[in-house]
Amino acid sequence: MHRYKRYKQSPAVTQTYYIETFGCQMNKNDSELMALSLVEQGFTPAGDVLAADIAIFNTCSVREHAENRVISRIRSHRKRIQGRNTVVVVAGCMAQRIGGALIEKRIADMVVGPYQSPDIGKLLRRHLADRSHRLFLSQNESDFSGRINPDLYRVSDTPAWHKWVTITHGCENYCSYCIVPFVRGRLISFPSGEILIYIRALASRGIKEITLLGQNVNQYGMDNNDVAFHTLLESAAGVEGIERINFLTSHPKDFSDDLLRVIRDHHNITRSIHLPLQSGSDRILNLMNRRYTVTDYMNIVEKIKHYITRSSLSTDLIVGFPGESEREFEETLAAVERIRFDDAFTYAYSPRQGTPAYALEEELGRDEKIGRLERLIALQRRIKLQKLNEVIDSVEDSIIERFSKKSLNRVMGRTFLNHIVIMPGTSEDFGKMIQVKINGVAGTTLQGTRIA
Ligand code: SAM
Ligand code: SF4
Ligand code: F3S
Repeated sequence: MHRYKRYKQSPAVTQTYYIETFGCQMNKNDSELMALSLVEQGFTPAGDVLAADIAIFNTCSVREHAENRVISRIRSHRKRIQGRNTVVVVAGCMAQRIGGALIEKRIADMVVGPYQSPDIGKLLRRHLADRSHRLFLSQNESDFSGRINPDLYRVSDTPAWHKWVTITHGCENYCSYCIVPFVRGRLISFPSGEILIYIRALASRGIKEITLLGQNVNQYGMDNNDVAFHTLLESAAGVEGIERINFLTSHPKDFSDDLLRVIRDHHNITRSIHLPLQSGSDRILNLMNRRYTVTDYMNIVEKIKHYITRSSLSTDLIVGFPGESEREFEETLAAVERIRFDDAFTYAYSPRQGTPAYALEEELGRDEKIGRLERLIALQRRIKLQKLNEVIDSVEDSIIERFSKKSLNRVMGRTFLNHIVIMPGTSEDFGKMIQVKINGVAGTTLQGTRIA
């Protein structure tokens, strides 16, 4: 969970707001849109959620656990504000999925779907006028102007030199387990011209690092005949002042050689590729509607190695999809062993009502799913440590983000391979690109010394 704190203050208003953000980077970007809209409508930020007149929870629906977590968080917040006039707003994907029920159960006073994030200030004004308008969940695409707003530089939930840049909204891949297409709607690519104007505006204000965001960035432009993703990435890499560009997420079915060529030819594009595999079994991938095989995936891995001399690969994996046999799970372990991911985000399958997989019978109990998950995590941890040890003695360009959690004499940076590295430093280093010699690994973190 991210607690939203940085914003530009507006004077002479009485009502304050606070946004707590759950879920993915899309939600973080939406929280920035909300903060901008609230400030424009005269609301001012509160120091913490308990002090706020308007408590906003920007939520995630991707797994049941994500929803339960935020519901218990809101319930405990409600208890603590009993007797006060605070308005509790539930925004984001869970609002879109079950907003009506959240109002009925008195968990939320008002719900706002992801489409309405940039308008939340105006919608709150409507709600506050008589407290009767409560549900704002339309998926009307005309609400999309204002998504790429250069004024967004004024609000940030990330360090002063980094910005999330959402390039598409929604997803129409309909992976059979996934709720995202239902809560975020169809694929909408934002105009490349506006995206580039925004990135130039960010660079002119000192932003050095950006992360282009989409559920499947490789599909950028396919809905509106705009340029392809690799062309957009290349143009962004050419913007003066941008020292590093990251992008998330790539879908293997749409990953192109052109993209690899653009990465190869631009030193300011990350060398870390996030390419979710989900399963190592072709039968399960087919049931997941992922539209590639393990062999297709392996071919991409080979191509990445061919085009880019040094790169890292991270992935998402789901265990316990309905009907996954022990042998099929072992195929996932074998794929992980073979591909040797630098990092993997691993999940136990969570049935989501409304998705195609929801109708499939689950044969595994919770304990069995967790057992498989633990075996996968142990394997990945071993591989991650090996991969980290392989970079010892190399020199890495790193952008310094903050103090190390353990010491104020040490700082934490991130390399182009997306490895975290700790080194001696001060707050003067934040946001700077520094060359670091990697000396060792402590736990799962690289340790280094600066050389420039
Ligand atoms: N768009 C990205 C993609 O195509 O891989 C990721 C989107 S999703 C927000 C992030 C990850 O959550 C997915 O890659 C998948 O591994 C996991 N996930 C999605 N639905 C899930 C479910 N029902 N149960 C468990 N994990 C799930
Ligand atoms: Fe979900 Fe698949 Fe879309 Fe990713 S590509 S958001 S996993 S439907
Ligand atoms: Fe969650 Fe919505 Fe993102 S479901 S992962 S916050 S798109």
